[in-house]
Amino acid sequence: SAAEKDGYDYFMLKEIVEQPRAVADTLLGRLGVDGTLSLDEMRLSAADLRDIHKIVIIAAGTSYHAGLIAKYAIEHWCRIPCEVEVASEFRYRDPILDAQTLVIAISQSGESLDTMMALRHAREQRSKVLAICNVNGSSIPREADAVVYTHAGPEVGVAATKTFLTQLVACYLVGMYLAQVRGLKFGDEVQAIIDQLANMPDAVTRVLDTIEPVRQLARSLETAHCVLFLGRHVGYPVALEGALKLKELAYMHAEAFAAGELKHGPIALIEEGLPVVVVVPSREGRGVLHDKLVSNIQEIRARGARTIVIAEEGDETVRPYADELIEIPAVPTLLQPVVATVPLQVFACELALAKGNDVDQPRNLAKSVTVE
Ligand code: G6P
Repeated sequence: SAAEKDGYDYFMLKEIVEQPRAVADTLLGRLGVDGTLSLDEMRLSAADLRDIHKIVIIAAGTSYHAGLIAKYAIEHWCRIPCEVEVASEFRYRDPILDAQTLVIAISQSGESLDTMMALRHAREQRSKVLAICNVNGSSIPREADAVVYTHAGPEVGVAATKTFLTQLVACYLVGMYLAQVRGLKFGDEVQAIIDQLANMPDAVTRVLDTIEPVRQLARSLETAHCVLFLGRHVGYPVALEGALKLKELAYMHAEAFAAGELKHGPIALIEEGLPVVVVVPSREGRGVLHDKLVSNIQEIRARGARTIVIAEEGDETVRPYADELIEIPAVPTLLQPVVATVPLQVFACELALAKGNDVDQPRNLAKSVTVE
């Protein structure tokens, strides 16, 4: 009913707007004022977590993209090798697992059968399984050794939005928690991340407050046949998620590439007027990647692409090459996906609405896929 949608025409619109609150709820009670983390529901002993020599993340769809981003954070903070794989591929290749492998199953619904079967396979090999999930008491957390709930509230729209942002936050918390229990000395960087995490609800609010130009841009692309997405480092999974959203909602051909691969093939696709969305890395720390992306934007623009650039506020270096510039708050690199994904959600949603599609119930899709 209209009341359930808070006056919005679609649940998806409501769920996009709810993201600052959802992110705040994921953080609630878990970030101590003194910079400590508590994840009491972890149920895995510190001894178990100290022994881990490998992490394997399994998930499907949008949750898989959260896993890809988690890998960057976990390997960087914890120095534990971390693999990420789509759940449907995982057990069929006879993966190497043991009692010192931590498997993280990410599933907003807790009911995706591929993810469940991968979890069971991991447990048969004596690996410990941690679930990151939004639905209390759903199947995957029930069979896992431990669970971190995202507390995003019910998500009705089939295409994941607030559950994705909150999965990212849960993954950051897990990564920092692992670093903490493993006795890694928290450097200034990790301390800064803890402080910045608390600011993420406000950062997402800022993105939403300035989103109107993204809506207009999306409507202007209603008749486009294809949109490409480029990103690098954590911006690459963000690009993948932007392309997935466009397929799911607007039924449009959309593909994402790691920007460094551009010259190995994708650049041949660039032609006059082709919209290309580029997620520009933050200038913090890995400024070198930022500059490489700016060169990529110049390269594709010289070949006729219509460049849609997502970059930090105040990043003047991209402005001359951006046909459309979407500004997001400057946050630490590893956290950038939390803010960079939001314009891509709105872009896909608005383009789909312009086409007259039902964004809550896209054709052929289900909220959770309970068949293999
Ligand atoms: C379906 C949904 C996607 C979701 C995926 C994984 O394909 O349409 O939005 O990302 O399942 O779902 P899960 O509940 O396991 O996160």
